[in-house]
Amino acid sequence: MATRRAPFATGSNPLKILITGAKGLVGRALVDHCSASGDEVFGYDHAALDIADARAVEAEITARRPDAVINCAAWTDVDGCETNPEKAEQVNALGPENLGTVAARSGASVLHFSTDYVFDGRATSPIPEWFATTGSVPHAAASAATMPNASGNVLVTAMASAAGSSSASS
Ligand SMILES: NC(=O)c1ccc[n+]([C@@H]2O[C@H](COP(=O)([O-])OP(=O)(O)OC[C@H]3O[C@@H](n4cnc5c(N)ncnc54)[C@H](OP(=O)(O)O)[C@@H]3O)[C@@H](O)[C@H]2O)c1
Repeated sequence: MATRRAPFATGSNPLKILITGAKGLVGRALVDHCSASGDEVFGYDHAALDIADARAVEAEITARRPDAVINCAAWTDVDGCETNPEKAEQVNALGPENLGTVAARSGASVLHFSTDYVFDGRATSPIPEWFATTGSVPHAAASAATMPNASGNVLVTAMASAAGSSSASS
């Protein structure tokens, strides 16, 4: 049986990584990075896997049995999320929940990107991991949703920008 690498640890053993939202800005970069690092990458764009579709998520994770799932899929149209909070909830809250639920059952770790919109932008110093979210935009609220994962192998990180540093994780 293949040895599984510790969640998100660096090392010489290649990981099987399932990346959602693979044609987005972050998704494309991670597909390239993980592939170049020697990991076995299963990249799913929106057409290939809708994370709001619980059955599809179940089918693909069960079939691929990845060591880690990296969720780069999101509805990032902040104005659209404000006018259509139901869709925002489906994609940005239930989608990650679907991934977390199935990943927990299969023993996969999950990396989920949140957004700096979970904060109100008034902080004057670096925000610690335990800081309560303060954003009011539906996209942000949905993106901050908790993902269930019985194994506890879930990392949620909020990025300020793709080129910048992480501002918080929980
Ligand atoms: N880029 C940044 O600087 C930045 C900063 C902070 C946080 N983040 C977070 O990082 C994550 C990725 O951001 P990004 O910049 O890469 O966004 P992006 O370029 O808009 O990519 C998001 C991808 O998700 C796909 N998608 C939308 N709904 C989906 C669904 N239901 N199922 C599967 N895929 C779906 C989109 O495909 P379609 O376009 O075909 O719908 C798109 O390819 C987001 O959670 C975002 O909030 C990014």
